Order: sequence, then C-alpha cells, then structure tokens
Amino acid sequence: MKKIRATITAIGKYAPERILNNYELEKMVDTSDEWIRSRTGIFERHIAAKGEATSDLASAAFEDMRKRFGIDPEEIDLIVVATITPDMFFPSTAALIQHNIGANNAFGFDISAACSGFVYALAIAAEFIENGRYKKVLVVGSDTMSTITDYTNRDTCILFGDAASVALLEPTEEDSGILDYIMKLDGKGKDYLYMAGGGSKNPATHETIDKKMHYIYQEGKAVFKFAVSKMAEVSVDLLKRNSLKGEDVGLFIPHQANKRIIDACVSRLKLKDEQVMINIDKYANTTAATIPLGIVDAYDQGRLKNGDLLLLSAFGGGFTWGSVLIRWSL
Ligand SMILES: CC(C)(COP(=O)(O)OP(=O)(O)OC[C@H]1O[C@@H](n2cnc3c(N)ncnc32)[C@H](O)[C@@H]1OP(=O)(O)O)[C@@H](O)C(=O)NCCC(=O)NCCS
Repeated sequence: MKKIRATITAIGKYAPERILNNYELEKMVDTSDEWIRSRTGIFERHIAAKGEATSDLASAAFEDMRKRFGIDPEEIDLIVVATITPDMFFPSTAALIQHNIGANNAFGFDISAACSGFVYALAIAAEFIENGRYKKVLVVGSDTMSTITDYTNRDTCILFGDAASVALLEPTEEDSGILDYIMKLDGKGKDYLYMAGGGSKNPATHETIDKKMHYIYQEGKAVFKFAVSKMAEVSVDLLKRNSLKGEDVGLFIPHQANKRIIDACVSRLKLKDEQVMINIDKYANTTAATIPLGIVDAYDQGRLKNGDLLLLSAFGGGFTWGSVLIRWSL
C-alpha cells in the first residue's frame, strides 16, 4: 500500500487594516526607525482594531482561503489552532472559529507553542491525516500580539504585530506534502520569555495589572542566541535525516522574529538569499502566524513551484522549536 501523506491544498491570510510603522513608534517610545530596521529588519506591523480578536483574524484568513480555493467549511473534519492570544481561556479559539466559519462537522482544539505554534500544529494535523482518520484538517496560526504588548516598553513593542493565516491539509498518495518533521521543547525557556499574569499562578488582580504582568516579558539577547542555534540545529538534523543538503532546499521559510536571527540561521544552513523567504519588514513578529503568512506571500509571489522542497523552521516561548520538510504541490 502506498504511504499516505498530508499535503497543503489551500491557504489564506489576513492582516488587520491598521498599520503601525516605525515613525509612529518613534513618537510613542524612545526609539528610531534606523535602530528598529537595522537591529530587527522590521518597518511596519498590522494592529487589530479594538474588539477584533484572534478568532476574528483567523475567520477572515479562512474567508480569504475560501475565496481563493472554494473550500466548503462543512467538509472540514478538524481545526487545530496555534495561538498564545486566545480570545479567552475557554471556550477554545477553535470552537469560536468553528462557529464563525460554519465548520459544522468539525471538532477542534487550541495548542500553545508560541512562535512554534504553526509548525507544531502542522505536525499534529499531519498525523491525523497520515493515519487515515481524517480527510480535511484546517491548521490555523493566529495571534493578536498587540493585546499583550506594552506600548510604553521599547524592548518589546517594536517587535510584534497581529495577523492570521490558515492552511488546509488533505491526504495524498503522491510523493508530496509533509515529508518529515522534528519538534522540540525545553521548559528552561520559561525564565526568558513569558507572560506571567492572568493564569493560575498569578490570577488577574489589581496588583498583577499594576506590575504589568499581562504583557510579554523577554530577555531579548538570551532568546536571540537560543533561537539562532536551535533553529539552525533542528533544520540541519532534519535535512541530514533525509539525506539532503542546504542546496536541495527550494525555499526556506523561517519564523520571522528578527532579520538578524534569520540571517544567522541562513549562513549556518549555507543557503543563498534567493532560497529564503523574508517578510518581517511588513508584519513584524506575528507569533503563530509568521510561517503560514510566509507560505501565502511566497505562493502569491510565485516562489513556490510544484516539486520544490520547502523547509519551515520556528523557535518560540517555552522554549519550543521545530522544522518541517514539505514537497510543495498546490
Ligand atoms: C530584542 C532585540 C531586538 C534587541 O536587540 P539587541 O541587538 O540584542 O539590542 P540590545 O538589547 O543589546 O540593546 C542595544 C542597545 O539598544 C538599546 N535599545 C533597546 N531597544 C531599543 C529600541 N527599541 N530602540 C532604540 N534603542 C534600543 C538598548 O538600551 C541598548 O543600549 P545601550 O547599548 O546604551 O545599553 C534582540 O535581542 C532580539 O530580537 N531578540 C530576540 C527576540 C525574539 O525573537 N523574541 C520572540 C521570540 S521568537
């Protein structure tokens, strides 16, 4: 019997209308366009409107997918949502999206893996398809980072943006789709990148609000070092395990947290510029949405050709990290 793989058969994206550029940030905190661009590669980011939540972003991304590819929501079996900014603790964002888009025959759940959320979700979704259980799985990366960002703190407020992007996975017997993946987790990262308030450890009180515990905290330099070494290491391991080298990769779509992190990974993987997708200048770090946004933008720019090897790699809070190898066919 031929092996069944999960392949991407439809994609869509959404970024909120409001754009916040570096010049506006110059008026909000002590920073400069020059510093932000040279230290991160970011120029602008999209910011959700008041009341526009993560499920709304994701539902709009699904609508984009539906318009492009004519998907019937009733045919979706499962919705896997990667987010760290759910609309609320419960119900899950998957439930809200399921209701919004009319996926009346789907079950679903959220996963929390920060910036690695989308690659984790792809790996989970692929297993449900490969074992023959489900035929159409919607994988969502959606984050409204502006809701947990302190716009008086220049260390973090320049880095993040809001967006959602979706991919539909279906079975194929061709030699395409998700070929392999490696996912990693190291809870030592809990000290370097987190939001301390609002959970069961520090439930919301006036004190947690006064102490700004409902915003992202990160030790930027430490996170930077881990991100470079772990994303490069897991990507090299995945290529090696599949008897591949950097030169075999058609397109590398890395998590977009900092252009310098991407550049360092690219040089360790010995890739050429034309093998790398970069759109951090337009969106900043949209956490679980960066990788699927990269896929959609690359597709729209004609940079994904059928048969090409696509290497995805992400790193995020936890720490979480992982890489996915895909033979593109859409
Ligand atoms: C946050 C980050 C951009 C900071 O860049 P960096 O090169 O490490 O910069 P530093 O923190 O060393 O700061 C250098 C100087 O710029 C200053 N600076 C920091 N933020 C600034 C800002 N927004 N604007 C202007 N100056 C700033 C610092 O105060 C420091 O000044 P000093 O030299 O007088 O002390 C970088 O560490 C990073 O991207 N880390 C990873 C973050 C990440 O990816 N998080 C998401 C997880 S995937």
